Amino acid sequence: MTHRLTLIPGDGIGPEVTRAVLRVLEAAGFNAEWEEFSAGAAALAEHGTTLPPALLDSVRKNKVALKGPITTPIGEGFTSVNVGLRQTLELYANLRPVWNLPNVPSRFQDVDLVIVRENTEDLYAGLEHVVVKGVVESLKIITEVASTKIAKFAFAYARKHKRKRVTAVHKANIMKLSDGLFIECARRVAKDYPEIQYDERIVDAACMHLVMHPEQLDVLLLPNLYGDIVSDLCAGLVGGLGVVPAANLGEGGIGVFEAVHGTAPDIAGQDKANPTALLLSAVLMLHHLDEDDKAERVKRALWTALSDAGTRTVDLGGTATTTQFTDAIVKAL
Ligand code: NAI
Repeated sequence: MTHRLTLIPGDGIGPEVTRAVLRVLEAAGFNAEWEEFSAGAAALAEHGTTLPPALLDSVRKNKVALKGPITTPIGEGFTSVNVGLRQTLELYANLRPVWNLPNVPSRFQDVDLVIVRENTEDLYAGLEHVVVKGVVESLKIITEVASTKIAKFAFAYARKHKRKRVTAVHKANIMKLSDGLFIECARRVAKDYPEIQYDERIVDAACMHLVMHPEQLDVLLLPNLYGDIVSDLCAGLVGGLGVVPAANLGEGGIGVFEAVHGTAPDIAGQDKANPTALLLSAVLMLHHLDEDDKAERVKRALWTALSDAGTRTVDLGGTATTTQFTDAIVKAL
């Protein structure tokens, strides 16, 4: 079967890691016709917008996209393409499984947790304005609809994947109304899943717990901003940003699969980037497309390449370039 999918290589290390992933998918026998689009600054020059309508139409039509990272310049009035994509396509759930990869050195062992981040509102609503000179207001939007939807997603995920506990992460002791509503919705949804334990942690205490005993946490349910911050923290627990995948999911099977990391301008164009995070995002995509066998094959080949420092990339203490690491995965396949 040939899948028709959307490809957004992104910028910085995006095109390098995307190229690597496409090589591996092809070697695994995954057949796809890719509709490729630029986004962000590159698209602005070409199409006058950072998120071309043709790209959005392509994702709506194909339902599934693989995406590299995209730069969001700071302080230039440039709305984040990533946030725009998630909001426009209503990709309300951001799923980030974080677990120890075989042969990847990390501070902890036995980490196996899943971050479920609300993806469309909170302080990412982009509602900021100057009240008077020197005073800026940024609005945190939390709605019952979005909070209930993401809580249902987290519990349904936990049930499907036989997870034991969902922990809602919040700061409702200070933001009594907004975060208060978020956990109120989570508590209500929890009642429909009696076999899954439910508890709550204040975000600062949750961070401490994560860096001391990450193995004790299971599914974490977070509003957008805490989810963003905590997912990078969790990436650091298992080897860094180069190894953690993500999926942005919406209703009706729509999904944009991308790594947690950004465009890594410090190593872009140097054949140094680790494609593991995007490759594991592609593995999530293969499962989403019911290509489970190919997903397992890709994972096994990846574990083989990771087992030797000579074929691991520099961020994982190895010596290999992106190309050499990809060659090793392809060879293992
Ligand atoms: P970053 O994730 O790009 O880089 C942070 C550090 O991790 C750097 O030292 C980088 O070299 C390293 N790193 C990241 N990915 C790596 C990989 N695959 N292999 C080896 N090392 C890797 O974060 P930063 O520097 O904060 O952001 C750079 C740009 O990326 C910004 O414009 C930001 O807006 C954008 N960004 C885009 C995202 C997306 O498109 N989903 C997500 C996060 C940031």
